[in-house]
Amino acid sequence: MEAYTFAQYRESADALEARLGEFRPEILLILGSGLGALGDEVEHPVVIPYDAVPHMKHSTAPDHKGQFVFGRLAGRNVAVMQGRLHTYEGWSFADVSYPVRVLRLLGAETLLVTNAAGAVNTAFSAGDIMLITDHMKFFGVSPLCGGNVEEFGPRFPDMSAVYTPALRTVARKAARSLDIPLREGVYMYFPGPQYETPAEVRAARLLGADAVGMSTVPEAIVAAHCGMQVLGFTLCTNMAAGVLDQPLSGEEVIAAGQQAAPRFTALVKACLKEV
Ligand code: HPA
Repeated sequence: MEAYTFAQYRESADALEARLGEFRPEILLILGSGLGALGDEVEHPVVIPYDAVPHMKHSTAPDHKGQFVFGRLAGRNVAVMQGRLHTYEGWSFADVSYPVRVLRLLGAETLLVTNAAGAVNTAFSAGDIMLITDHMKFFGVSPLCGGNVEEFGPRFPDMSAVYTPALRTVARKAARSLDIPLREGVYMYFPGPQYETPAEVRAARLLGADAVGMSTVPEAIVAAHCGMQVLGFTLCTNMAAGVLDQPLSGEEVIAAGQQAAPRFTALVKACLKEV
């Protein structure tokens, strides 16, 4: 298992610092499928493509631009990832979560992560926004596999509260103040790129999942390992496979993301002010 060294993370952080001058991000925002538009609202943006950062992999997923946007959003210093990396693109879990550690070195203390997912909970509807309370990851190795990089955290990190309880309270209040209905639940990681089968979705439901998706969990584990606060939102772009008698499509996911973008964006911005 190939892991990165502390020196590599440091080299990437140094390269970003050279471009950013005095600016330091407080919050790393990772935007999922169909939700990247928020990055366009960043004020005084400094745009840095992933392939300009030493050691960082690039984004190949549709609708993922593959760039950082550094600047001000909702009165906070942010680093927005417009498009994330996924293991289904062929990257390792360490590759996918690489930018989280780099941003930690730049001073980010909070990860706000969003994704598109399929709703497993049959009380949910397509278009619902879910506050992530916890996750499950039974597939593939850990993003922390390989030699532990002690500078970031311990070998066996606690995962009792990956999604910071105080930030969940912030999210509930923000949703209430905006009159945005907010579901809550457990996000279960599946590797993709194929959507799940109906049998897998039934199994996920039995295990306690409320939504299934192909991202977020590696970044959240790495953020928790290095002591960052984490706030996660899922946009349920569709009912997961087998819930409805219809096939799933990537186009549907992106269209649902775009339709929900105004609500989602308002919620994220309201949270940014308080985290
Ligand atoms: N499954 C996995 N990932 C997804 C889904 C889904 O149903 N919808 C959007 N991303």
